Order: sequence, then structure tokens, then C-alpha cells
Amino acid sequence: MQTTSLSQFNIPSPPPKTTILHRKTTSSRRLSPIFAVASTTAPPSRHQVTHSMPPEKIEIFKSLESWVSENILPLREPVEKCWQPIEFLPDPSQGPNVFVEEVRALRQRVLGLSDEYLVMLVGNMLTEDALPTYRTFINTFDGVCDETGSSPCPWAIWTRAWSAEENRHGDLLRTYLYLLGRVNMLMVEKTLQYSIGAGSDVGAENNSYMGFVYTSFQERATFLTHGNMARLATKDGDPVLARICGTIEADEKRHENAYTRIIEKLLEVDPNTTTQAIASMMRKRITMPLHLMYDGQDPNLFEHFSAIFQKQDVYTSRHYAEILEFFITRWELEKLEGLTEEARCAQDFVCQLPRKIRRLENRAKKLESRQVKFSWIFNKSLSV
Ligand SMILES: [Fe+2]
Ligand SMILES: [Fe+2]
Repeated sequence: MQTTSLSQFNIPSPPPKTTILHRKTTSSRRLSPIFAVASTTAPPSRHQVTHSMPPEKIEIFKSLESWVSENILPLREPVEKCWQPIEFLPDPSQGPNVFVEEVRALRQRVLGLSDEYLVMLVGNMLTEDALPTYRTFINTFDGVCDETGSSPCPWAIWTRAWSAEENRHGDLLRTYLYLLGRVNMLMVEKTLQYSIGAGSDVGAENNSYMGFVYTSFQERATFLTHGNMARLATKDGDPVLARICGTIEADEKRHENAYTRIIEKLLEVDPNTTTQAIASMMRKRITMPLHLMYDGQDPNLFEHFSAIFQKQDVYTSRHYAEILEFFITRWELEKLEGLTEEARCAQDFVCQLPRKIRRLENRAKKLESRQVKFSWIFNKSLSV
């Protein structure tokens, strides 16, 4: 599906040697963190299953609308009280001299950031800025989608508010990257266009149970990633960038809280289906949403960028296992009782998975590194 969607947008497909969807590397011993996680479970599928949620389950989501109004909508931040990107950026309305001075100070502050850091910051920015893909994704979930584009349904109100909050993340990081002057913005912008054109299929099957498992996991992953980026920025001498990443981190935590509450509620009202949905997503593995990332040059860009995250200890297979452990505890999955046989098998699978991932992580540490060029930093080579 993904390769046809590339040609559909007149985007040249990467060389046939590489299957973007499966992300296999040139060496079977070399595993990106994301792929490494996949190897502990079944091989990745092509995610061709659609609308796997039985129609009668839609009623469950309809019946939860007032619960969403009371428990999820309050997690939105009022527009008048929340932050905006300009608060962290040089402000042109302050007059040309002040603006130029602020840009100069910014460019001075970022001199201590490593090339690896810049690649990760670009990756994070692209992941945020591909927001149209995620808004589309959530609106494929049966029972909760925004049917008119401005629906008064509480599920839709949340999705639009979430989307509007997320939009600030990409805007802020993108402007900061533009001003800092150390990245090839043309290649970054091309990557964004390719990536939004390619879309994303994380295998949620239009199934709201599976979809919200994915969003829970993804929000926690971005919470951890932006938090680690904030700490590195502090260490490398840019306190403003640290504050930016820390502010985004706090948003991601609030979003994680919303989606985690939804799964918690679903476990309460429909534990069997929800437990199986968690297992189903974990069997496929949770893939970063920009898994079809492409810059027009590197057919293995996603793998290479993931490897930088792994090497810099910003997002690794260890974090993946920790996220899963966090949810096992948060949703009290080990304590669930009275499940059907199928759901009990799913429960066992999920609860034992972190141990398997950690075992694989230990094996992955033995890999040799190699040099890879990144177009985003003017084709400089980095060790991955
Ligand atoms: Fe975000
Ligand atoms: Fe978020």
C-alpha cells in the first residue's frame, strides 16, 4: 500500500532493494531500535486489515461520549492560557535591531549542539510537523471520528483540540531550526513533503481500541524523547532550546494522560476486547508514525535516523520496553481477572514482552557502527 501511495503523489519510489514498509537493513545483524523490537514478535504485516472492530462496538464509544466530556475534554489547555511558539522565538515586531540581536544570540547558543543532536531535532520536528497524517489517522477510527470536520461529538472535539495543540510543536521546532542556520532547510522541507505525501499505516485497522493503544504509546514515546532532548540541550549550552523541548514534553505528558485514561476506561467496560487490542498492537510493534520518512536521497533514512536516537540514548529499545512496563503497571494488566481464554493469552503475551525486548536489546549492543550521510546536515557523515 505504501509504495503505491508514493507513486500516487508523483513521488519517485526509493530503490526497489529497500522495502520501506518492512525497514529491513542491508545486514541482518544490524537492527534499528524499531526493527529490533519487531524481531521479538511476529514479522511485520502489510497492515491490510481494515475495520476490524465489530459494528456493535461502536455503541460502546457512543455510550462513552458524556464520560469523554467529563474526563478527557478538561485535559485541553484553554487557548488564552497556553503557550504559543512566538514566546520562545526572536520576535520581529520588536524592531529590526532587537530581532537581529536575538537571532544572533540564538545562533551563538546553538554552537555547542552536536550534529547528532541536530539530526534528532530535525527528526522530532518532522515527526511533529507531519500532523496532517495523524489527524487523518485518528479520523479513520470507527466510532470516534469527526464526521463533519466540525462535529460537536466530544470525541471529535478532543481530536481537533489535540491537533491544534500539536500544531504548535512542529511550528516552534521548525522556526527554531530555520533560525539556527546549521541545517539544510531545503532537504528538511523536501523530507516533510515526501513524508506527508507518503502517509502512515501503523496497523490500527480503523479500530478505536487499537488506535488508542497506539496514541497512548506514541504520546509517551514523544514525552520521553522531548524530555531527553531538553536535558541534552541544557548540557550543550542552549537553555532556551531546553525550555522549548521541556514545554513540548509537558504537552505530550498531558496527551499521554488523555489517551491512557481512555484505554483505562475501555479496560473497565470491555476488558477482553481491550486486552486483545493491546496485544495486537504490540505484536505488530508500535512503529514511529513517520515510518515512511524519505528525503529523496536515502532509502533507509528512517532506519538511520532511528539509529542516531539509539546511539544517543534518546529513544531506544530500552525506552520501548520501559514504556510497555509503564502501561502494564498503569493499566494493571497483570491483575486483570475473569478474561476469556483469548484475552488471557493476550494478557500473558503483553506482560511477558518487556523481558523479551530487553533480551534483544542486549544482543543489539554488539553491533558495529558505520558512517552514514544525512542530507539534513549538508551530507555530513555520522556514525550509526
Ligand atoms: Fe507533539
Ligand atoms: Fe502529543
